Amino acid sequence: MPLLQVLGLQKAYGGLQAVAGVDLDLPGVPGGQITGLIGPNGAGKTTLLNIISGVERASAGRVLLQGHDIGALPQHRLAARGLVRTFQISRDLGQLTVLENLLLARPRQTGEKLLKLFAHGRLVRQEEEAAIETARAALLKVNLWQLADAPAATLSGGQKKLLELSRALMLKPRLVLLDEPAAGVAPAMEEILIDTIRGLAAEGVDFLIIEHDLDVVAALCEHVYVMAAGKILTQGSFAQVTGDSRVVEAYLGLKP
Ligand SMILES: Nc1ncnc2c1ncn2[C@@H]1O[C@H](COP(=O)(O)OP(=O)(O)OP(=O)(O)O)[C@@H](O)[C@H]1O
Ligand SMILES: [Mg+2]
Repeated sequence: MPLLQVLGLQKAYGGLQAVAGVDLDLPGVPGGQITGLIGPNGAGKTTLLNIISGVERASAGRVLLQGHDIGALPQHRLAARGLVRTFQISRDLGQLTVLENLLLARPRQTGEKLLKLFAHGRLVRQEEEAAIETARAALLKVNLWQLADAPAATLSGGQKKLLELSRALMLKPRLVLLDEPAAGVAPAMEEILIDTIRGLAAEGVDFLIIEHDLDVVAALCEHVYVMAAGKILTQGSFAQVTGDSRVVEAYLGLKP
């Protein structure tokens, strides 16, 4: 059974079909596959990711996770089923330490209430050891453990991306959706990001990654979908899709 199946998905904003009938399949076995989603600006990639991750509702079509229709589920229910996406660390969260950011990422926490506790410096010491241990493991995986007590706002762009990834890991995901993980990340940090994602995939976590940096896509993704004008233009290995003249034309804005 496929891990994720997107069937005839559509999303309209007024008269604009941002997603115009998309089918997409992520295989269930073997685990730990990294699938790329590329395409020119405005192709509908982020909209598609938003729908799969429960941030937005589709106008039509279905999303199945391991055979179950998840189209109407809110994000925390999706997380409980193993599907998570990363979010940029917001300004509010930037005031908190790296470790506190992870503790806040846990499921079934009333974020706001906890945020207030943290904001008033009353981080409850009797927080379960288990949560801190999970956070520690997540930070070790992304190599940020030594920065656990630093305010998130002081991290570099690349370190913030790693923190976003580690927040997703707190939910013990099966499938992680990433929207441009390498955007604004310095080359040296990019290597670390790539290694980290690879390491997580080796442990069985699947990824669907939107990325404009094609070197990153080439390094990570076995299978690549190409979107243009709301539709899947083609799919295949990185070499196959980038060798396809329709893909080149879509990027250059020419008519296929
Ligand atoms: N909330 C919204 N309201 C109206 N139009 C939207 C909204 N979100 C996206 N769009 C439009 O839908 C289209 C697809 O946008 P989307 O952000 O999904 O593209 P993308 O492939 O992620 O592009 P990029 O590579 O630049 O991030 C664009 O024309 C965009 O302007
Ligand atoms: Mg986008």
